[in-house]
Amino acid sequence: MAKEKFYITTSIPYLNAPPHLGHALEYLQADVLARHSRLLGKNTIFLTGADEHGAKIARAAQAEKKTPKEFIGEKVNIFQDLLKKLNISNDDFIRTSDQKRHWPGAQLLWSKLAEAGDIYKSFYRGLYCVGHEAFITEKDLKNGLCEIHKKPPESVEEENYFFKLTKYKGGLKKIIESGGFQILPASRKMETLNMLEEIGDISFSRPSKDISWGVPVPGDTTQTMYVWPDALANYITALGFGSSDEKQFKKYWPADMHVVGKDIMKFHTIFWPAMLMSARLPLPKTIFVHGFINMKGEKMSKSLGNVADPFPLLEKYGAEAVRFYLAHEVSTFGDSDYSDKHFSDIYDGLLVNGLGNLLSRMAKMMSVLGVIPRPEEATLARYPIKKSFNFLLGEGKSWSFEETSPMFLADSALWPAYQKAMDSYDISSAIKNVWIFLGRLDEYIESYKVYKMVKSKPEEAKILLWHLAYSLASSAWMIKPFMPETADKILSAVGVAEDSREPWTKFSAKEIPHLFSRIK
Ligand code: MSP
Repeated sequence: MAKEKFYITTSIPYLNAPPHLGHALEYLQADVLARHSRLLGKNTIFLTGADEHGAKIARAAQAEKKTPKEFIGEKVNIFQDLLKKLNISNDDFIRTSDQKRHWPGAQLLWSKLAEAGDIYKSFYRGLYCVGHEAFITEKDLKNGLCEIHKKPPESVEEENYFFKLTKYKGGLKKIIESGGFQILPASRKMETLNMLEEIGDISFSRPSKDISWGVPVPGDTTQTMYVWPDALANYITALGFGSSDEKQFKKYWPADMHVVGKDIMKFHTIFWPAMLMSARLPLPKTIFVHGFINMKGEKMSKSLGNVADPFPLLEKYGAEAVRFYLAHEVSTFGDSDYSDKHFSDIYDGLLVNGLGNLLSRMAKMMSVLGVIPRPEEATLARYPIKKSFNFLLGEGKSWSFEETSPMFLADSALWPAYQKAMDSYDISSAIKNVWIFLGRLDEYIESYKVYKMVKSKPEEAKILLWHLAYSLASSAWMIKPFMPETADKILSAVGVAEDSREPWTKFSAKEIPHLFSRIK
């Protein structure tokens, strides 16, 4: 039987400014879902890339006295460096300035909209926000400034091509309501439906004499595609749409998931599906809308000088710690605040003193006893965890569990709770479940004073160490998509191969693992 496929993308960032922690968050969230899907045995493709056209980039290049091409050539390296340093497992990277890979498909998509009778020319007068790379309305302004980008919009009067978005409003509404096109979380689905009520046709091009840095409109070189019809097409051009070889496109489209931030939701939940409907192409299955990382409640912005830079964090703490922070501390679908202090507290509390300490204690106790075989069935329930648990299932639901043995909890409570959270793509709840459980293992060691039993009652201690090693090995598999290197170290510390899944028959201490260094 052919393997189920999973095609996941991030948005493609503009290259006008260096990447910040918000970009790292989006990469990480998509990476966790991609790695999880690979572990489930799905045939997975994970795409990211760069959005290289538009006024933002042309102006940023001009400010550095460079041509747009020189400018993006330098900047794209910084984003690719971040992907590498954060250990992101993307299979591909698409650049919208790539005239071979991207332009033919972007132009073919445009032509399909035109053939459907959905592109028309009209005189336009409006307010253009360069931050949005889109026209905005009076409603988006506060004190004359764009509410999101805090800049005055530009008054623009010109002849543009328009896309007949209104033609698809009814169809789109139906498919969103029926869940055939899924928007996560549910609150964003409602927001999209409300926005849809008010939306009109949209401008899809600008005169080339003003903006030439972009993909030319097919058949009319006086106009440049602007900028969403160009950028959104990346999700299909990367698969070869519009090229001589559409094999990948036929195999992997529609996308299973586009991961995007809330500020570009509308482009993905309204513009993009309407374009695909017009082109008679299938719609992506799910749009995953994450929240923002803020600084003291404020949006990160260069002008406020409060942009969190991921590179020094990666340098100081390493990729595994940054990945953990972004998954565990940033609410998957809500907004979260970042501070250096919070990062270092989490690093010390949950990684150095949490998992790191637990694993080295375990390895020490195990090294005293050598091999830990699977205990007799009748003894497995002898040493329960003496506290109840509350696991998070995603979508605000939770599940409580009474005292029972760690092995049973790992298999029958933690794993299904983790899976449930992952099924609803609530990755922060999923990883939190693992840490709730790991925290209890420390208490478990204390409550039975296992370190004393290792000497005084070694045979009984083996039962407890079995539970602990089993719990750690199971947790390692859940940690894998989040912290792949840490997960492998856990498995090797309890003496099983990195690809070894349960049922395990024995554990043994291999080495005293070092996971997280104490940082002053
Ligand atoms: N180029 C467009 C996307 C085109 S997709 C066809 C764009 N680029 S961006 O660089 O401005 O944003 C890239 C992604 O980063 C978006 O999903 C955006 O929501 C996300 N974030 C930008 N700031 C963010 C935070 N402060 N926090 C979390 N994510 C944020 O939009």
